[in-house]
Amino acid sequence: MTIGFILNGEDVIVRSDAGVRLIDILRRDFGLFGAKAGCLTGQCGACTVIFNGYACNSCLIPAFKIKNSEIITIEGYSQTDEYQEIMDGFKQVHLGNCGYCEAGKILCTEALLERIPNPSKDEILMNFAGIKCRCSNIEKLIEAVNIISGIRTRRLHGRRI
Ligand code: FES
Ligand code: FES
Repeated sequence: MTIGFILNGEDVIVRSDAGVRLIDILRRDFGLFGAKAGCLTGQCGACTVIFNGYACNSCLIPAFKIKNSEIITIEGYSQTDEYQEIMDGFKQVHLGNCGYCEAGKILCTEALLERIPNPSKDEILMNFAGIKCRCSNIEKLIEAVNIISGIRTRRLHGRRI
């Protein structure tokens, strides 16, 4: 089937069997390797992309579902100012990162703050439930998200919180 969608802000078209995983399309057809092929069963979060505004496991999304969707991978997101804000927040708390699921943590943070600018601890915990990170202390991740939320709020609204 022929599938049109928006990838990192650009209209793209790909030919694929309906059941091929999004992660394989990103790698095979677009040379995007930032979404890591970890468990491939939806358990680890290493393959996370932003899919229609939500952080999703690209290993669980079949090709037929991406038609007319909007997908952001870490390659596209890393070109934004918001990416730098998130990296700054992670660095401020010395969040451990081996790189395996770092893109997943970054994109989960972006998707969360886009929907909930000032999330509660429970909302943060729920948001990261799908990421199985061996490097990051969850308390540090919560601290980082709160810092990033504050930075973003000040940038958008020009005030301290
Ligand atoms: S590779 Fe997709 S969740 Fe692990
Ligand atoms: S960054 Fe998550 S496992 Fe290392």
